[in-house]
Amino acid sequence: MPEIAPATPLRIAAMVSGRGRGSNLGALIAACESGEVAGSFAVVIATRSDSPALERAKAAGIPTAVVSPRKYETDEAGYALALLRILNRHKVGLLCLAGYMRRLPPGVVAAYPNRIMNIHPALLPLFGGQGMYGEKVHEAVIESGMKVSGCTVHFVDEEYDSGPIIVQIATTVEDTDTPSSLAARVLTAEHRAYVEAVSLFASGSLSIEGRRVRHTSGS
Ligand code: GAR
Repeated sequence: MPEIAPATPLRIAAMVSGRGRGSNLGALIAACESGEVAGSFAVVIATRSDSPALERAKAAGIPTAVVSPRKYETDEAGYALALLRILNRHKVGLLCLAGYMRRLPPGVVAAYPNRIMNIHPALLPLFGGQGMYGEKVHEAVIESGMKVSGCTVHFVDEEYDSGPIIVQIATTVEDTDTPSSLAARVLTAEHRAYVEAVSLFASGSLSIEGRRVRHTSGS
């Protein structure tokens, strides 16, 4: 099975959308600081300058950038170029989407094969795809009658929520759950799952064949 060799030292970037609170970003920053993840944050990119995630990054001394996809509504290649310039300048070896709600432009995906991760608040391939984000996911899970939900960390390909799965953690769905109570339970699992996935990547403990990602012993 082909191994995924991380760049060393591993420099990580995160991308966040809108006014996301950036709690997954916070969990990843803490894991880098504690040494649980063998890497460090190089840059955090937000779609808006008033993103709370940028404040988290600044408080941790991490460089920040803002790229508004709205400015590139009819120029996907230009959007890709703007992102790639930042990623290259900061010598990024892993890009973590952490509450980024759009489809990444194909130019970025192609430049970082098996080097872009996303976290999704459900057990993919269920409850994913365009328009499935945030509370909408949890509403759909509750309406479906499922007794379990959870989160998925996966590599990013050209489609929404469709790349190879790296880590999943399941949670219960209680009879009394509302979308927000389920979201809170899943979010706790998200922080663990994202740190685990990035830690496995950073220690060279992931290999991939087709859609299957294996956790190996690593370096
Ligand atoms: C998380 O629940 C993440 O799974 C979700 O956005 C939230 C961001 O929270 N992402 C998606 O729905 C992507 N399809 P955070 O800002 O506290 O990390």
